[in-house]
Amino acid sequence: MKVAIASDHGGIRIREEIKALLDEMGIEYTDFGCDCETSVDYPDYAFPVAEKVARGEFDRGILICGTGIGMTIAANKVKGVRCALCHDVYSAKLTRMHNDSNILAMGERVIGPGLAREIAKAWLETEFEGGRHARRIGKIADYENKHL
Ligand code: RB5
Repeated sequence: MKVAIASDHGGIRIREEIKALLDEMGIEYTDFGCDCETSVDYPDYAFPVAEKVARGEFDRGILICGTGIGMTIAANKVKGVRCALCHDVYSAKLTRMHNDSNILAMGERVIGPGLAREIAKAWLETEFEGGRHARRIGKIADYENKHL
């Protein structure tokens, strides 16, 4: 599995925590910034990661900002992306099992690094269940292909 990870200035500490987790899990990743703590704009980091996942250059993406909401809104504008904002382990597991989410978003001003690590671990380890859930995801893809 190859993971693309990025954050804005509001998510740097959790990004470092998740990179340490990815190292421990032996998962290959590329860090797409941001590089500093000065204020940056989250769409500038969400779109490159989302596009790389949508194109299949990376299997999964992880995006962190202050709340995780801006990253989620931006990433879900990219066709083929299913970005899930998760601040609990149950949602992280279920969004893999039922939604086959390909990007995880979290908010550093909402949760601490320990919980973020548990959420990311669960999300990375949980498989999609397919079946009726694949039909539902297919309806989202159909909508993307027919509208806007
Ligand atoms: C940045 O101040 C903050 O707005 C951003 O990190 C994020 O929370 C937006 O949704």
